[in-house]
Amino acid sequence: VAVAALVTGTGLVVAPAAAPAAPHGHDYAEAAPVGEPTRRFTLTAGTATVGVSGRNVAAWAFNGQVPGPELTATVGDVLEVTLRNRDIGRGVTLHWHGYDVPNSQDGVPGVTQDAVLPGQEFVYRFRADQAGTYWYHTHAVSDLGVRMGLYGVLLVRPAPVADGSGAAPTGGADAAPATGVDVTVPVHTLAGVPLPVPRTEPVGAGTPVRLRLINTDSTTHRYALAGAPFRVAAIDGYDLRGPTSLVDTAVLIPAGGRYDLVFTAPATPVALFVDGRAVYSTGTVSAETGAWPVLDPLTYGVAAPAPWSRIDREFTLVLDRGIDLHGLLPRYAHTVNGAADPDIPPQVVRQGEVVGFTIVNRSLFVHPWHLHGHHVLVLSRNGRPVTGSPLWLDSFDVLPGDVWKVAFLADNPGTWANHCHNLPHADAGMMLHLMYS
Ligand code: C2O
Ligand code: CU
Repeated sequence: VAVAALVTGTGLVVAPAAAPAAPHGHDYAEAAPVGEPTRRFTLTAGTATVGVSGRNVAAWAFNGQVPGPELTATVGDVLEVTLRNRDIGRGVTLHWHGYDVPNSQDGVPGVTQDAVLPGQEFVYRFRADQAGTYWYHTHAVSDLGVRMGLYGVLLVRPAPVADGSGAAPTGGADAAPATGVDVTVPVHTLAGVPLPVPRTEPVGAGTPVRLRLINTDSTTHRYALAGAPFRVAAIDGYDLRGPTSLVDTAVLIPAGGRYDLVFTAPATPVALFVDGRAVYSTGTVSAETGAWPVLDPLTYGVAAPAPWSRIDREFTLVLDRGIDLHGLLPRYAHTVNGAADPDIPPQVVRQGEVVGFTIVNRSLFVHPWHLHGHHVLVLSRNGRPVTGSPLWLDSFDVLPGDVWKVAFLADNPGTWANHCHNLPHADAGMMLHLMYS
């Protein structure tokens, strides 16, 4: 830990040892032992030419493909993912978006590890203890790196039910129906060309279908399912508490967010549209025609009591647009409490505290907020409390004028990025750190 020294009128004052270290240090957390790996993967990052919708696009790819390989595991597995960098000169890392891994495995260069440079490797190990739909991406020059294609799906299935009683698995996302269809739909654009290529597969009437929608872009996307009412089974990897009734709406997924939609295939085709473009269907469909209302996740689901009745510590983050004077030349910055990264003071918490934070957006931009290492419980938005299922999110859109109140349990010690997931905004200053004292 670097000791800060300040020169004052009375001489040299050494900051007390308890002062938090600067987040941009090289004092990385030790990896904790997790046991023998049961699932091993190797991801090699490199420049590649990728065919997208009939065009060849210069990309950065994991194992030559965009998205990278889908990493799947079951709760209880120990994952070991070896990251190699062949020729990405700016370096790469792997961040497990929404997966609350130990801090040393979080993949943030300069905060939890050094970026992996060409010819180097880094081995990530963590236990799969939460089922659900997640994704991974580089966090080194993350705006450019993700835009160029360094991302993929992380899918963790619930542990099988051992006793054969047919009881639903507990914790995490619903099991994939044994006889059903389970489709992951990562959405991204590569050099302006939308991914993935439209996909059609015939699905028999009566088949249970689970669509795992992942927004890997930096802006919100609108998803509409034509031809079948559905239920939202999970958001950001966490199961919702009901409802059992079906809806026929569109959903807006913020940058980085995930929704799992489940439905039973009817005899007629069903199609998933993203921003009006069909990306998945169970038969031949024409264009999106419906004008769907948008589902409000804050009022969806079945009510359940909040897990905490106390808040031990509170922060307010005011998002705005300002001038950053940190560099040689002033530039426009996306700011938090009037400052831009790396000048935003860290949020310092103690292990075991329930931490509340209020996010106020005073700018004219949408800021999809993302805290690493913790899911936050939404308390209210614009003074309106959550009336549906408890909503545990890791990515949520803070619209211009919005005030969100959220809380989380400080149960994962380390230094964590807390930032806007519109990645150009994060690069332009909208990034701070959560630290444990
Ligand atoms: Cu998905 Cu800090 O990132
Ligand atoms: Cu933003």
